[in-house]
Amino acid sequence: MKITNRWKIKKVLQEGKDETDVLVKGWIRTRRDSKGGFSFIEINDGSCLKNLQVVTDHSMDGFEAASKKLHTGSCVGFIGKLVLSPGKEQSVELQANSIEVYGEADPEHYPLQKKHHSFEFLREIAHLRPRTNTFGAVMRVRNRLSYAIHNFFQDEGFVYLHTPIITANDCEGAGEIFQVTTLNPGSPPMLDGCVDYSQDFFGEKTGLTVSGQLEGEVFAMALSEIYTFGPTFRAENSNTSRHLSEFWMVEPEMAFYDLEDDMDLAESFLRYLLKDALENCSEDLEFFNKQIDKTILERHRKIVDNKFERISYSEAVQLLGKSNKKFKYSVKWGSNLQSEHERYISEEVFNNPVIIYDYPEEIKPFYMKINDNGKTVRAMDVLLPKLGEIIGGSQREDDYDVLLKRMKFKKLNSEDYNWYLDLRRFGSAPHSGFGLGFERLVQFVTGVENIRDVIPFPRTPKNARF
Ligand code: 4AD
Ligand code: MG
Repeated sequence: MKITNRWKIKKVLQEGKDETDVLVKGWIRTRRDSKGGFSFIEINDGSCLKNLQVVTDHSMDGFEAASKKLHTGSCVGFIGKLVLSPGKEQSVELQANSIEVYGEADPEHYPLQKKHHSFEFLREIAHLRPRTNTFGAVMRVRNRLSYAIHNFFQDEGFVYLHTPIITANDCEGAGEIFQVTTLNPGSPPMLDGCVDYSQDFFGEKTGLTVSGQLEGEVFAMALSEIYTFGPTFRAENSNTSRHLSEFWMVEPEMAFYDLEDDMDLAESFLRYLLKDALENCSEDLEFFNKQIDKTILERHRKIVDNKFERISYSEAVQLLGKSNKKFKYSVKWGSNLQSEHERYISEEVFNNPVIIYDYPEEIKPFYMKINDNGKTVRAMDVLLPKLGEIIGGSQREDDYDVLLKRMKFKKLNSEDYNWYLDLRRFGSAPHSGFGLGFERLVQFVTGVENIRDVIPFPRTPKNARF
């Protein structure tokens, strides 16, 4: 009998019946030989966490030739009959009657031999770590979250917008831009002692985007509600478990939303994503709950069912001032909140997601709407227990004169932003938006400690090898 339709292992385990003939393909996870002339081979094809157990009779045609290649890591295909499994671990197993070896993995050299490898070790073999349980599960959750993000916004009528990767703007004004140039770094053309960027590829100094927001605003001022979901780049020398040099950001931008509406959207968005993950990634989340953090399922359920806390920046500073906890960085009104402060508030004070709003003007970018007090801007950050900041957003300054003044104050060359100012010159509207760090979301949902372990190929200072 020739079967050509491959069944994915997920389908085999969910739909496979006694006596069904199937073809399966995958990578060997373990092999155990019994004295009675059988080998029990577990294979995985990444379609789900569980392996399929394949029972091979040593007298089967072709087994002898294949046997010496059947190691952990080898890639194989089996045709056989499903039988109800006597073991509790799986519903069915496969009794093989033919085998094909596609690629052997020499046990002397294949690095994934143990059941558990450290995250640090796996980072060194970023090209092989997708074949581990943990990394496979992370990637399936990451995939589902991407899908859910699109579903959420599409259901709400938002338009998905592709903003440019190469840009001449520094949206956040933090000077963390990776430059894009075709000039010879050794001898660039000079003019009055400075590099002459008019001779560069784009005729001006350009870099990789730190955020799609400014371009997003252009389209919100025409389509009302848009979102971006793309890579962003920051040349920030932060070697922490929450920073990447290349990360993915989701940025909705909405006309006619004030800060209140912005916070409401951010909250319902996060609750939607957690609910979706609980419903659609249960096998993988149960694995994380067992292997990584025994509290994640409970924490996610609680977030889905409860409202977030909301406090102003000034209230947050008061809470920190009153606390007996020793912080590495002291806080006074006007200073940036460090992640230790954010975690203290969300984890210890409230043990719940917290939105902090109305930040001091000096520590936030030029585009945020200034409050009547002249001291604070209509900014908000969403903080999650165990993680800290996951979302940063604001109502945007929509008054032409005020914006121009703020740009001058922040020492921006308003000439470069004429197009952005035009949005306030022609048909301006109150509008708001936010950015969600996608890898931080994946970290939170899976409980994985280090952000380097939730993206296929992490880019961090001194590391862009694979
Ligand atoms: O707070 P940020 O810098 O806000 C913006 O870029 C705004 N333009 C967003 C907007 O209003 N449209 O970044 C937004 C989020 C942060 O809350 C964080 O989750 C994530 O992006 N983020 C990073 N994630 C990983 N590595 C980094 N280096 C990150 N920097 C920011
Ligand atoms: Mg921020």
